[in-house]
Amino acid sequence: MVEMRERAGASMIVGIDAGGTLIKVAYTENGTLHFDKYPIAEIQQVASWVNDLSDSDICITGGKSGVLLSLLDKKALEMVEFEATHLGVQFLLEKMGRDDDSYLLTNVGTGTSIHCVENNQQERIGGTGIGGGTLVGLSRLLTGVMDYEEMVALARKGSRDRIDLKVKHIYEGKTPPISGELTASNFGNKIFEVAHELSKEELLAAVIGLVGETVSTVSVHAAKQCNNSTIIYIGSSFFHNPLLKEVVESYTVLRGAVPLFLENGEYSGAVGAMSVLK
Ligand SMILES: Nc1ncnc2c1ncn2[C@@H]1O[C@H](COP(=O)(O)OP(=O)(O)OP(=O)(O)O)[C@@H](O)[C@H]1O
Ligand SMILES: [Mg+2]
Repeated sequence: MVEMRERAGASMIVGIDAGGTLIKVAYTENGTLHFDKYPIAEIQQVASWVNDLSDSDICITGGKSGVLLSLLDKKALEMVEFEATHLGVQFLLEKMGRDDDSYLLTNVGTGTSIHCVENNQQERIGGTGIGGGTLVGLSRLLTGVMDYEEMVALARKGSRDRIDLKVKHIYEGKTPPISGELTASNFGNKIFEVAHELSKEELLAAVIGLVGETVSTVSVHAAKQCNNSTIIYIGSSFFHNPLLKEVVESYTVLRGAVPLFLENGEYSGAVGAMSVLK
């Protein structure tokens, strides 16, 4: 059981997950749990904030934890990212009133990491380089849109019909052996005939389709390996991104698994790091 309690005195407990793209911070103040996130470029500002805390216990995780530690002038615990994420997921599940102890966990961060949790023990079983970094990188290349919030807002208004090739497009005039609505090829439609007229909205929606379908397809296969049909999806790639959620949810359901998106799931690593300080 992971439990967060107000600690005696005025001390603050702080968990930080410094990832490839974003730094996630979870901390308790007067018994209230707070969440913040910053671009990794602001790692120095986060370090200064930590250095200015007078009475605090700190635990750091994530791929950039070493960089952050080197900027601190006080002691901090360091934790393996996968352990912290798992602890944080358990905490957030309990907050949602759930007691799952076996599931597949897919963390769609800059890259995508997949973990099998069985009887509360986690094991990393795979991943894919297609993740939130792909979403941002390809979107920028294809449309020139640089801002994440603008990207995901525009994508919601786009249709993938002219860009993606569906199974039914290939099986012309006969019934396909699998659902005709499945994507046969992301970006595989005759896009060069319409390339000059494709809108930013269409291109962004297609990039999100590519990322979402890849992540969910790999997850569904991993869930079979893990003997579990519940797939918990976390990571900042879902933040303000209803289209990615929709693609991942519908693909996961179509393939017979049960998707679950955690509230504040992007803070799993930070919350997990914080929970070891209680
Ligand atoms: N404000 C934002 N700026 C940039 N990307 C954002 C923003 N909000 C959400 N994202 C999305 O979230 C992704 C990063 O997710 P997350 O914070 O979970 O990864 P990370 O922990 O930094 O990376 P990793 O775990 O792979 O080291 C980005 O690639 C992008 O798709
Ligand atoms: Mg991460």
